[in-house]
Amino acid sequence: MTHSNYPPGTGDTQAPLAWHDGDMPFSTAFGDHFYCQTDGRLECGHVFLAGNGLPERWQTTESFTIGELGFGTGLNACETWRQWKEHRRPGAHLHFVSFELFPMQAEEIDRALARWPEIDAERQALVSLWPTDPSGVVEIDLDDKTRLSVVCGDALENLTASTLTFDAWFLDGFAPSRNSAMWSAELMQRVHDTTRESGSFATYAAAGFVRRNLIAAGFDVERRPGFAGKREMLSGVRRSA
Ligand SMILES: C[S@@+](CC[C@H](N)C(=O)[O-])C[C@H]1O[C@@H](n2cnc3c(N)ncnc32)[C@H](O)[C@@H]1O
Repeated sequence: MTHSNYPPGTGDTQAPLAWHDGDMPFSTAFGDHFYCQTDGRLECGHVFLAGNGLPERWQTTESFTIGELGFGTGLNACETWRQWKEHRRPGAHLHFVSFELFPMQAEEIDRALARWPEIDAERQALVSLWPTDPSGVVEIDLDDKTRLSVVCGDALENLTASTLTFDAWFLDGFAPSRNSAMWSAELMQRVHDTTRESGSFATYAAAGFVRRNLIAAGFDVERRPGFAGKREMLSGVRRSA
C-alpha cells in the first residue's frame, strides 16, 4: 500500500471527534467543523471545484492531478469523483492526492457522508475500500480512470518528500486561526513549488496571512465571493516564471 513517491506516513493516531446534529463531525483537537454547516457538498462545488476552474478544465485534459490538504471525511474526494465521472473525456485519468494527519475510520466517514444522497454511490465505494487501519499511503482505485491516494501524516513533511506535481490544489486545513500550520509560508511555498505552471489553488480561507503567504510563494491571488454568505474566498494561479 505504500508508494515510492512518499515517505512512510506517521498518521496512525486517531483525532478526537465529536458529532454535532447527529452526522456533523467536529474536531475537538482543532475546535472546528470539517465543512460548513450549510451544505459541505455544495461548498465543495463552489469553493474547490469552481475556484479551480473545474469541471471546465477537464474538457481539455488527458490526465489531471488534484492535491488536497486535509482529507477529513473524504467529502471533497467523493463530490469531485462524482463530478469527474460526469465531465471527464473518454480515456482521461484523475489522480486525487490528499494529505491527512488523522485519518478517520470507515464508520466515521460513512456516518458523516450519509447525509448526502447525491454521493451515495461514491460514499459506499469509498467506505468499502477504506482500510481498517489507515497509515502510510492509502491507495485506492475508485474506478479505472480515478485513483485516490491519501498520504497519512503531517502535510508539510510528506509534501516536502513528494515528487508529484499538481494541476490544482484544494487547501482545506481547518480555519487558519485554528490551525495555522496548514497555512504556513513554508507549506504554501511547497504547494506552489509542486504546482504545474498555470496550475491553481482554491480555498475558503481569506485571512490576510494566508493571502500574503500564497502571493509570496508565487501565486497570482484573486479574492472571490465565498460560499453561503461568506464575504470572501481565495483562488489563484501559479505565476509564470
Ligand atoms: C477541514 S478538515 C478537511 C475536510 C475534508 N477535506 C473533507 O472533505 O471532509 C481539515 C483536515 O486537516 C487535517 N489536518 C490538520 N492538520 C494537519 C497537518 N498538519 N497535516 C495533515 N493534515 C492535517 C485534519 O485532521 C482534518 O481532517
